[in-house]
Amino acid sequence: MVTNSRLKGFYKLSREERLKIVAEQCNLNDEEIELLQDPAATDMRILERMIENMIGAISIPVGIATNFTINGKDHLIPMAIEEPSVIAAASNAAKGARETGGFRASASDPIMIGQIQLTKLPDPDAAVKKIQDEKERLLGEANSVDPMLVKLKGGAKDLMVRKIETMTGTMVIVHLLVDVRDAMGANAVNSMAEHLAPVVAEMTSGRVFLRILSNLAMHRIGRASATWSKEFLGGEETIDGIIEAYSFAAADIFRCATHNKGIMNGITAVAQATGNDTRALEAGAHSYASIHGGYEPLTKWRRDEDGNLSGSIEIPLAIGLIGGATKSHPVARTNLKILEVESSTEFAMVLASVGLAQNLAALRALAAEGIQKGHMRLHAKNIAASAGAPPDLIEEVAIRLIEEGKIRMDRAEEIIEELRNKG
Ligand code: MEV
Repeated sequence: MVTNSRLKGFYKLSREERLKIVAEQCNLNDEEIELLQDPAATDMRILERMIENMIGAISIPVGIATNFTINGKDHLIPMAIEEPSVIAAASNAAKGARETGGFRASASDPIMIGQIQLTKLPDPDAAVKKIQDEKERLLGEANSVDPMLVKLKGGAKDLMVRKIETMTGTMVIVHLLVDVRDAMGANAVNSMAEHLAPVVAEMTSGRVFLRILSNLAMHRIGRASATWSKEFLGGEETIDGIIEAYSFAAADIFRCATHNKGIMNGITAVAQATGNDTRALEAGAHSYASIHGGYEPLTKWRRDEDGNLSGSIEIPLAIGLIGGATKSHPVARTNLKILEVESSTEFAMVLASVGLAQNLAALRALAAEGIQKGHMRLHAKNIAASAGAPPDLIEEVAIRLIEEGKIRMDRAEEIIEELRNKG
């Protein structure tokens, strides 16, 4: 069990030292440690069963965001991402939140929506009424598909009916609300919707086309809030800048897309590390951001009574701990073990907190020194490596590139040559 996520100087350790600390805190066994270190050790047959026409695999680095404390519990957060700075930024924001008590988070029950599309109805209003009148029977019918889920206190819980006007005529859309417990839920929901479709078609004399889950998981919401002191943020002026940045996003869709993208940097990275469906999360987040008509920021920021910065987030989070790659991919399983969440609702609380942290970090950097400075170190290292610097010279070449303000391939090659001649 993670006893302390406040790992001072974690970033300065070697990769092996970092892994040792995580393995100790999270009780990883030898096989889990081996697979994390060597992606090629993952049995190709497992990957081959995941997709079609498989030819190989690509490695994405997994890192740990430190310092998170959420509802009084410490978590080490595994993130799989190709973008530099994201993990450092999340860790730093979590450090600031920790000073004021950490993240407070909550989540709704894990309710997903299954949609059934009814068309060519002789009387759409009568169809709506009929379905509403037969609600209990239909819920029972849906639950007969998945007795195991019902036993776990999940299953179809409610049913809503909407009439919509479309370019091909009036449609009646049934929303089946299913508590999917610890699954992402697509399979359970789709099976129930498919099972129910002919029943509602017959009941209404309509024609069913689509029966599929909605990625706008508006009933499956994660919430988190936290406070950052003005001292941590570097003064009143940074707070002003962050609130100005938030106002900008709230007023302008071009900025708002980037604001929300920054939130998803963190959330998607954790989802990727744990074998979750990142596209479902993205679709849910961005459509929820538009649920009131205009496209809005998923976070809110304000200066509190003490002059500190208070932030909150509300976001749909269709994530699971069981099923799909979360269980079949051994590294995803290990990352879930590192994350130490007991349920999909606790998982949602962690993800909401990560999203809020990520947004704070981006806004703070943008409001203060700008985003590029943080990116430069890793960028310079990448350039040094691409220019052919041997491992023991990468750091030195990168530092020279930064100091000279010329983070370019041609200059890196010259420096490497110089250092080689010297050595
Ligand atoms: C970059 O991946 C994310 C940011 O652009 C987010 C933002 O601007 O808020 C830094």
